[in-house]
Amino acid sequence: MIKLTINEIPVEVEQGSTVLEAATKAGVSIPTLCHHPALEPYGSCRLCTVEITERGRSRLVTSCNYPIRGEIEVQTASEQVLQGRKMIVELLWARCPDAPLFQELGARYGIEKPRFEPREGELCYLCGLCVRICNEIVGARAISFIGRGVDREVGTPFYKISEACIACGACEFV
Ligand code: FES
Repeated sequence: MIKLTINEIPVEVEQGSTVLEAATKAGVSIPTLCHHPALEPYGSCRLCTVEITERGRSRLVTSCNYPIRGEIEVQTASEQVLQGRKMIVELLWARCPDAPLFQELGARYGIEKPRFEPREGELCYLCGLCVRICNEIVGARAISFIGRGVDREVGTPFYKISEACIACGACEFV
């Protein structure tokens, strides 16, 4: 077992546990978008970023996929963390200006509206939960990410109805 502190709260976890798991055990909430306990850590949205101090050095890491290998101190709401999280919310909100989720997150982080050019009509913020549940749990691999950068999106191969899809609805559910 490894001892660490989350916002000064002591907690013990098994080696290799993630910071997010340790925070949950300590009763500390960290916001997440692309994390699901049934799926492999993905680390794409970066909303779960926290500040860790290890051997006297501090840095920002994504808590959902950062494995604990030694004693560390974790801060989930330091000035640096909140600034970074605010920027992430702004960027994601600009991608999905009409998504109610980002209006809520914007209000939580004191953002009236994103400073970046909004992408009209977009609701997908590329958390990848639908793609990952189709691949990892269902095993159908019917959908995947397509394109790069701002054009990245989720779809079926060649945008055709996929023969691999078993219509289980897991993608929609998650
Ligand atoms: Fe950790 Fe998305 S929840 S990067």
